[in-house]
Amino acid sequence: MITGGGMGRINSVVDSAPLYVRGLIATFSFTILFLILKKEYIFIYIILFSLLIIFLLYKIKKYILINKINNDKIIESKVSQVEAQIVFDSSESLSNLSKFIEKRSSGKPRTTYELRVIYKNGEISGTLGFKGPESVIEAEVFRAALPTLIPGVRIRRLVINSTDAGGSSMQEHTGVKGEDGRTGMIYLGRRLDSPVPAPVYLSMNDIEGHVGVYGSTGSGKSTTLSVISRRLRRTGIDVLVIDWTGEYGWLKSQGFEVLDPQRGDLPVDVLSCDKVSWRSLAIEALVRALDLTEPQTFMLQQAVEDGAASLREVYERIGSLPEASKWDREVKRALLRKLGLLFAGGVDRAFRGCKFPGGKSVVVNVSALRGYYARRTYVMLLLSMLFTVRASEYSPGMKPSPLVVVVDEAHNVSSQIFMTILSESRKYGLHLVYATQSPAIIGDQALLNTNTKIVHSIRSQKDKRVIIDSLGLSDAWMERLDKLPRGSAILQKASEGKPVLVEIDAERES
Ligand SMILES: Nc1ncnc2c1ncn2[C@@H]1O[C@H](COP(=O)(O)OP(=O)(O)OP(=O)(O)O)[C@@H](O)[C@H]1O
Ligand SMILES: [Mg+2]
Repeated sequence: MITGGGMGRINSVVDSAPLYVRGLIATFSFTILFLILKKEYIFIYIILFSLLIIFLLYKIKKYILINKINNDKIIESKVSQVEAQIVFDSSESLSNLSKFIEKRSSGKPRTTYELRVIYKNGEISGTLGFKGPESVIEAEVFRAALPTLIPGVRIRRLVINSTDAGGSSMQEHTGVKGEDGRTGMIYLGRRLDSPVPAPVYLSMNDIEGHVGVYGSTGSGKSTTLSVISRRLRRTGIDVLVIDWTGEYGWLKSQGFEVLDPQRGDLPVDVLSCDKVSWRSLAIEALVRALDLTEPQTFMLQQAVEDGAASLREVYERIGSLPEASKWDREVKRALLRKLGLLFAGGVDRAFRGCKFPGGKSVVVNVSALRGYYARRTYVMLLLSMLFTVRASEYSPGMKPSPLVVVVDEAHNVSSQIFMTILSESRKYGLHLVYATQSPAIIGDQALLNTNTKIVHSIRSQKDKRVIIDSLGLSDAWMERLDKLPRGSAILQKASEGKPVLVEIDAERES
């Protein structure tokens, strides 16, 4: 990379002239030199000539590289739904981005990428267009991932050209007005890092791409979740709060219905639902939630695939399996002990029968279920059910009415289904707003697929590191992140790349 001021100026003069003009000037200077200089100064002439050749070769190499990238197969679409404006430090970083896109595009057949490069005054910049149903999410993934994955590439701005850039549009389902009259916004609080108090809103687009709330215990996560839940409901959007700790019952006064799974309000025995095929889903959820070993998984799989019509029947079938060997007996008993946790008194009604939440806002009081494993299994089965029903009802072009699922203490249910919802459910109108004290446990993939992040005070070094990298913050935040006052947070929205400091307003209604 050439950085010096003098060299930079020479570069910009050379770059502004077309290649053939540069060649003509070089030949002309060469002839003049030859005529002026006497034969005994021939060595000066040779040195100058060599320098000129080296310089020209360097320029031609860059020119060829950029044209090659421009002509690559990446270019497929004419109009991009989302465009990222990019600045490159060097031609190497441009070439690395090109390789990254090629690799990524083979795993994303539904998204097309268009990279256009501008090479001007010694600077390389350009736009990367995204087209396809997941273009907005994909652009956000690039924005979040590039600073860490490819040094020297910076996304300056994302421009969304089409309102139909991906899946359902929450905007169509809400007419609520924010303080300043903007529709489809929910009020979050006020900015702390601006000289004048400025209100901060979350747009429906910010929520559609999922919202993650992170922070150590007592930092204000649950308060932020309840602020978002009740303000979202006021916009007319259905919200389902999974209440892990029993803190959200008060939302009843805000128009939510409180469901008690222990009383059988929302049973999740997916095997007894007849809507879609649930078998693999049930196995996946049970294996993850109950930490089953491989032999236990195998035994469970056989019982489920044998055609058991309910979870209870699976439990009974396993109970009546013959015990051919000591090994069989041990696997069977350990599995029964774990499954038995779902049928103990006090929780069994949550796993008996199958009901879908109707079109209204509810708080599912999971905290009432006795036992960590029963609670975890219940939530994973519920998430699986919500996802699969929506996926099975979806057809291309349809705009399903949105449902926002609010999950506190999300590290407890971090699983394949959680990841699937984050990466695939946008088009089905299913959106997550979750909180966790440990971004490190939920993992990089979950963070990458969460477009809006609200970061409260974090004390753990490991979690601080993960969040700082994910938001692209400077290392100075390692010192500052644990000093954020309760209720204050760094907010990075889907619609604006630059993080801002906000104070979440838990009081005011908008
Ligand atoms: N934005 C806010 N404005 C005023 N008070 C707040 C705000 N956020 C949190 N608090 C207060 O801070 C305390 C802790 O908040 P909260 O329960 O939301 O934290 P948390 O991160 O969910 O903690 P935990 O990890 O223990 O669940 C509560 O007493 C709450 O009233
Ligand atoms: Mg909490």
